[in-house]
Amino acid sequence: MGVFQKVVIYFYVIGVVRSVQQIPWLSCQFTDEHVSNNSEGHIETQLIPREAMVQFGLKGDAPVNPHAITFLITVSKLDLQRSIEGVEVEELECEVRRYSTEGIHVRWPALGAEGYNRWYTCILRHRKDKFSVTAFLRHPSDQPPPGQQDYRSWPPIADREVLTTTVAMLLKTETPSVKVRLRSQPKLHCQFSIDHRGPNVTVEWHWQSRGERRMLFRYNSRSGEIHGSGVGKKALAGGDASYTLPFTKMSSEGSYICSLTVNPLFANMELNLHVEEPPRVSLNVGPTLVLEEGKEQKVVCTAENYYPLDVEILWHEQNPAASGQRVGAPLPQELKNILFSSHKHNQDQTYSLSAFFYLKASLTLSGKQFSCSVSHPSLRMPIKKSFILQVEEPSSLMFNLAVGLVLISLSGVLIILLLYLNSARRPSKIVRNHTESQW
Ligand SMILES: *[C@@H]1O[C@H](CO)[C@@H](O)[C@H](O)[C@H]1NC(C)=O
Repeated sequence: MGVFQKVVIYFYVIGVVRSVQQIPWLSCQFTDEHVSNNSEGHIETQLIPREAMVQFGLKGDAPVNPHAITFLITVSKLDLQRSIEGVEVEELECEVRRYSTEGIHVRWPALGAEGYNRWYTCILRHRKDKFSVTAFLRHPSDQPPPGQQDYRSWPPIADREVLTTTVAMLLKTETPSVKVRLRSQPKLHCQFSIDHRGPNVTVEWHWQSRGERRMLFRYNSRSGEIHGSGVGKKALAGGDASYTLPFTKMSSEGSYICSLTVNPLFANMELNLHVEEPPRVSLNVGPTLVLEEGKEQKVVCTAENYYPLDVEILWHEQNPAASGQRVGAPLPQELKNILFSSHKHNQDQTYSLSAFFYLKASLTLSGKQFSCSVSHPSLRMPIKKSFILQVEEPSSLMFNLAVGLVLISLSGVLIILLLYLNSARRPSKIVRNHTESQW
């Protein structure tokens, strides 16, 4: 490619990139380390937070904040800036750490990386768990690593130093925290990119929970070998190491670790998976409950098959006439005398619970609406089920009975009357017949 073409492409890229909001620099914490032997001879690492900046630009650029340590990230094949595109600075948490290769020196196979390197990791996390990015920053050095315990003699960094680096490797997940339903097939996102062609990369997935650890998947780009399933081989070639869970059970909960090895670098990311199953809510009565005054009815609201355990069931009563009007409508009143069943542990490890009360029908309650609302972490809004109570006076029942009796007796009289009429006509006919026979 000629210089001219390169320039054209460069400006084209800049033009495209400029059209989307980009973060030119970020305030960051540099976690420095002081490693020493403690009095018992054990290695002790003291972490020292220091003020730093991550600045995107060109070699030789002036630091935005001259009072802090600046990690100047210059252009490479990998675009860290792009991977945090469209995000507000305030939403990001940024940390730079030193990275120990444990004395291993291999020539980094990228263009222009002939000498030794010092490594730093830059971790950018979205505060609301939208993503997490780990970038390996390569800082060229003329010094070989000082042996296996390189962390014992970290090169000092001055308060206002500018370290010119390039991004050598990127690992990103857009699902750092996943909430899934039972019997689903969630995709755990993990994307990587490396700054040179044909890297010898090993991708692994592990599951970990309560001290247990299992390997789920392993792939090496050089041998092409695959152990396990859940990640597409074609997708891997494009840097997509996302893992699809086969069928979530309660035991699928835990940490899923996506890791990447390109000697001498090892990166991993932890994704947390939680199962959340919303409750099914039902009442033991219909939308209208008709009761005779003085009668008592047990009213049960049941929340079934939810997970995790924390559920809240409330009963309220409200005057429905008031629910239509906007101003001055009385608020629903919480019922106090609610009883709860004990949590039922279902076979699929979900829970069920019911909240009930004994409703004594009185005329003052007639027309009221009773509603049960169930809140659960899996629900954005509580689930509501309600019914309207209709209370009937026993006296009106007596009246109905009386009216019924009158009707019955009236119809009795009518029947008798009809029968009488009928029988009164029949003899005359017989008589006529009789006379006819006489003829
Ligand atoms: C690739 O890297 C792994 C370690 O990450 C190493 O064991 C293996 O020998 C390497 N393969 C080649 C062909 O360099």
